[in-house]
Amino acid sequence: MDEFHPTTIIEPFRVRSVEPIRFTTRAERERYLAEAGYNPFLLKAENVLIDLLTDSGTGAMSSRQWSGMIASDESYAGAASFYRFEAAVRDITGFKHVIPTHQGRAAEHILFNVIAGPGDVVLNNTHFDTTRAHVENRGAEARDLVIAEGRQPRLIHPFKGNIDLDALRRAIDEVGRDRIPAVMITVTNNSGGGQPVSMANIRAASEIAHAAGLPFIIDACRFAENSWFIKTRETGYADKTPIEIAREMFSYADGCTMSAKKDGMANIGGFLALNDDALAAQCRNVEILTEGFPTYGGMAGYDLEAIAVGLYEALDEGYLRYRIRSMAYLGEKLTAAGVPIVQPTGGHAVYLDAGALLPHIPALEYPAWSLNNALYLTGGVRGVEIGTVMFGLQPDGTEKPAAMDLVRLAFPRRVYTQSHVDYLAEVILAVNAGKERLCGYRIVEQAPVLRHFTARLAPLG
Ligand code: F0G
Repeated sequence: MDEFHPTTIIEPFRVRSVEPIRFTTRAERERYLAEAGYNPFLLKAENVLIDLLTDSGTGAMSSRQWSGMIASDESYAGAASFYRFEAAVRDITGFKHVIPTHQGRAAEHILFNVIAGPGDVVLNNTHFDTTRAHVENRGAEARDLVIAEGRQPRLIHPFKGNIDLDALRRAIDEVGRDRIPAVMITVTNNSGGGQPVSMANIRAASEIAHAAGLPFIIDACRFAENSWFIKTRETGYADKTPIEIAREMFSYADGCTMSAKKDGMANIGGFLALNDDALAAQCRNVEILTEGFPTYGGMAGYDLEAIAVGLYEALDEGYLRYRIRSMAYLGEKLTAAGVPIVQPTGGHAVYLDAGALLPHIPALEYPAWSLNNALYLTGGVRGVEIGTVMFGLQPDGTEKPAAMDLVRLAFPRRVYTQSHVDYLAEVILAVNAGKERLCGYRIVEQAPVLRHFTARLAPLG
């Protein structure tokens, strides 16, 4: 008998534990959003029907992860759980020193505390907001050097997360190696639309950094999704497994920062991994001050266990095929209906191009914020603005439009099914049909950094 090749890609799991979600009325949602200062971050999650705020720490764990957690070792120092975690991280990344942290930004905090100072410049394809904030917190500049294609939402390119190699060379010449603590690359490029970086680009960026004597660090949050894109889009990788591809990616780097809340498939956790002995020793000293003893780093033993298993599950081919297909499926529905999205769809999210969808709302009246709020009011869906509210506030207090005004609909891992996605598409199409009626917003109250988390806004219409 011939092998059966279905075209339907099903969720590669069955559900054994369910969590009810709550339906609300439009009137209720209007009240909840007003009470939240028109900031979806300040909504109560129980008032959200489909929560696509983030894919970070929101995934469903597997029965294997739970069984690992039950068998954890909670010793303060030298716990068996730590060694299982360390072995998994080393096996996949190849880095010598594994420094656990309670989440990704804690790894950034430690690293930049040690390597960056006033006047320095960190180069990256695109810094994620916490990465940028940690660089700037040290008085350094976070400079984004993504390729020009990566800034054009509608343009199709297989690796829109690539760093511009000429711009990287120029920046190194212009700034001078003494003022560059590290060259980084974020895989996938979250703030640029969840777009992947090719192996060729990682290799070339690593060569440029190393030729200048600079460390090359990967922001590895979504390393498994990036591996899948390399497998399916880059010549020469089709027959390699995701773990082989991940190992090759890491082999070009001197270290990585990682949020295990993404491709660690865990609800909390992260790590900093490094090859350099002296740098690792300095980082461990900071870790003890801020995170805890170096064999737990702000995590419980059971968190370490969940990550040790989760890192491998994130690299499973069946899982990655389903995961990336879910995004493409939504993307195809929206594109067919004429809704502008970042093309092609990324690894963990679909990004709606609010700038294109709402041309009547100026950037400084936050079109992506308005679109995101409309999704909540219409269908109880919560995404996140990746645009001028998130990135527009400059260190000197002035404001400028972000490069793109997007709404990110990020998918928690292994949580939602195809019918959730069908519902979501319906909500977006309904908002699109009434888009002329949407108005801009103004900020009423804001914090000096990372203002989008706590700002309170008011509609302008
Ligand atoms: N780097 C990238 C590329 C990220 O996407 C994130 C988090 C971090 C670093 C920081 O990790 O949250 O564990 O401290 N991104 C989440 C998101 C918050 O929603 O995209 P963390």
